[in-house]
Order: sequence, then C-alpha cells, then structure tokens
Amino acid sequence: MPDRTPILAANWKMNKTIEETERFLAEFLPKVPDEGGPEVVICPPYPSLKTAVELCLQSRVRIAAQNMHQEEDGAYTGEVSAPMLIELGITGVILGHSERRQYFGETDDALARKVPVALDARLEPILCVGENEAQRDSDETEGVLTRQIEADLASVDDGRLGEIVIAYEPIWAIGTGRTATPEQAQEAIALIRGLIRSRSAEAADAIRILYGGSVKPGNAAELLSQTDVDGALVGGASLDPGDFSAIVAAAA
Ligand code: PGA
Repeated sequence: MPDRTPILAANWKMNKTIEETERFLAEFLPKVPDEGGPEVVICPPYPSLKTAVELCLQSRVRIAAQNMHQEEDGAYTGEVSAPMLIELGITGVILGHSERRQYFGETDDALARKVPVALDARLEPILCVGENEAQRDSDETEGVLTRQIEADLASVDDGRLGEIVIAYEPIWAIGTGRTATPEQAQEAIALIRGLIRSRSAEAADAIRILYGGSVKPGNAAELLSQTDVDGALVGGASLDPGDFSAIVAAAA
C-alpha cells in the first residue's frame, strides 16, 4: 500500500482581508500539531499572501495562491506570474478551479502550459478537475475527467506527474452543501489515479488526489477514509478556524 501524506488545503476564494487573515491564523495555528499529521496548505487571496507566509514561518502550514499566469512577465493586466509568487515564499498554486473555468474563461490549453510552468518554478500545482451536474446525470463523468486530465497534463513529463496534486471537485458539490458520497469520491479519484497509472505506475502511487466540494467537520473523516482519497480542498468550511482545524484533525 503506497504511503501518501494527506493534504488538507483551504481555498479561501475571494474572502478575508489582511486583518481577517491575521485573526484567522492567530486562532488556527495553535490548533495545528507541530509534527505528524497531514500537510496543511492555506490559499488566501493575493493581497494576504505575504502576511500569511510570514505568520506561518514557524509552523508546518504552507501558503499557496489561487491562480497564476503561465508567462513570466509581460502585458497581461491583472495577472500574476510564478516568479512573483516564489518571491513571496509561496509553495504552491491552485490551477483550473471550476470557478476560474466558469467565470474567467480558464481553458485546458492555458492549464496545459500553467502546470509545467508551476512545476519548473517549484510551485506545487493543485490542479482542479470535475464534472457539472448535467454531465454527471448523463453519465459523462468519466469522459469529462479523462478529457481534463489528458489535456491539462499533456505537457508534463511522466516522471514528474507524481509531484502534482489533483483535486477532484464535482461542480454540483461546490458550495452547495451537497457533498459527493464517499463512494462517489472514491470512484472518481480511483479513475483519475488510473489515468495517471496509464502514464506512470510510480507517479500513480505517489500523486496525491484530493476531494473537494462541501467538505465539513461532520463528513471529512468518512471521505478521507476512502482508499484513494488523499486529502481535501475545502472552501466554505476553511474560513472558520475551528471548522478547518476539525477537518485537519479528521485526517490525522
Ligand atoms: P466548498 O468549496 O468546500 O465551499 O464546497 C470547495 C472548493 O471550491 O474548492
């Protein structure tokens, strides 16, 4: 049985000012065990990144961004590049979240470039994939996940696939309170691991694949106990230090 350290990642989306970030961390950090347990990653909005990195220096908590542009610099108004994140002490970046795909036109072509750029910059990519409700209802889940994984990871060397983190986030479960059942999460994540296995058995054993979509303190333990579920990407419940620390404890 491959030994994979679980990851609990907090996706704050467009929530929390710098001051609110400070307040959250003052309450949350003492609840995170100094060693052992899962890896903990917090993904605040850009303006809070520097403060969050500084406040977490003495802890095991790592800070990641929520998006990144694939170019190093240039005329891309409103965008932020990998070297800019690295300079802040960021260790990872969420890529391809369904809200970015849906509201901001994020494409698989852009993601195919972003993932290797992040890896080369030493930013751990957390690549999000998942089907919407209509696709699940018409049995297209497998096809959607296959297309996204194949397209988004097309330019990554097989030998580096294990360094990526994937988050399976069914769109119908995000922010809806309607969580995938543990069996649905396990099935989709096992499918994704199988897609990675067709390129590299070693990477398939190493890669961490998370579940995301209405994870709460009350359902985290059961989701995380599934064989192929290596952690969670948590939105709403990660905004509360008590709730998120309870989810982290559920993975221990
Ligand atoms: P949620 O969001 O936990 O609020 O459903 C998860 C996500 O979008 O990453």
